[in-house]
Amino acid sequence: MTENDFLPLAYTNTVETGTATYKSPSNIALVKYWGKKENQLPQNPSISFTLDACATTTTVSFRKLENKSVDFSFDLWFEGSQKEDFKPKISTFLARIEAYLPFLKEYHFKIETSNSFPHSSGIASSASGMSALALCLMELERKLVSTMTADFFTKKASFLSRLGSGSACRSIEGAIVQWGSHGKTQGSSDLYGIKYPYEVHDNFKNFHDTILLVDKGQKQVSSTVGHNLMHNHPFAVERFKQAHDNLDKLITVFKTGDLNEFIKIVESEALTLHAMMMTSLPYFILMKPNTLEIINKIWAFREKTGSNVCFTLDAGANVHVLYPENEKQEIYQFITSELLVYCENQQYICDRIGLGARLMNN
Ligand code: PMV
Repeated sequence: MTENDFLPLAYTNTVETGTATYKSPSNIALVKYWGKKENQLPQNPSISFTLDACATTTTVSFRKLENKSVDFSFDLWFEGSQKEDFKPKISTFLARIEAYLPFLKEYHFKIETSNSFPHSSGIASSASGMSALALCLMELERKLVSTMTADFFTKKASFLSRLGSGSACRSIEGAIVQWGSHGKTQGSSDLYGIKYPYEVHDNFKNFHDTILLVDKGQKQVSSTVGHNLMHNHPFAVERFKQAHDNLDKLITVFKTGDLNEFIKIVESEALTLHAMMMTSLPYFILMKPNTLEIINKIWAFREKTGSNVCFTLDAGANVHVLYPENEKQEIYQFITSELLVYCENQQYICDRIGLGARLMNN
């Protein structure tokens, strides 16, 4: 498919008012997306686990205007109060997707949104937030056309989410989602995320992710700035190639259930992301001392017990502790006794792999 396939459909129906509610999850990348081209197209393919507990629920109520408005007409409510300061981000998103949803200025929207995780936890809400909003708007488009296949709906929702925040396109459908064109993954595309299409061993079903909140402050570097640092980065070409190689390897890992190899790929990806930030100009260290303490504790625990626990990182100091379902008791014990002391106010979020976004009304 190309971008043109997502251009406006012929609208056959008239819709005056309505509402749509979606609950959309966050995701954690195993192979990271870091570096983009024009139009939020990724420099390399990435793959993520869909998270269930960190989700955004968004309700969009729409009312047709008598005349098309000049600017986007919407109110934004976040957790029960109106949030003027979040509006510019939404306006930018709407402007980016307007060519694909040409009805946007014909309606007034009331957007009500809330997160299942604390706002200033250092957990990015852009993936869950942008995907939930894109899904609600797609629900309106679905009402405007006489037929729309479920496959097109999902792809276009992912395509639009990507224009809000790249990683958001991996939050629509599936437990494991791949985004970005990759030679060995059939159906993969830079334009949208797809449900991982190959065999997945039982070892990866119900995987757990406990997010240790090491630093709940504002992000030190926005992801836009971070992605831009990959332009002319001395190691960029090698890094983009490495992501392809790691995805090749993950196909075998997912099939065979090889947790040792999984750990190597996932931890190396996390450290590579941080290494890219340390070796760019300007350079940044996004880990905190406690991030390193936790990593060392995980390595020592693995060495001592033979466990399959591992970690990954986002572009920040929080640590995602990943472990299979059958080890959850021991790991939970390990986390509470040895790792929580490194978290701000001992705060953490227990999450696990989920299946994707859900329509909550109709
Ligand atoms: O979706 P963005 O533009 O905020 O970028 C996300 C980048 C990482 O979270 C660091 C990696 C990833 O693939 O999710």
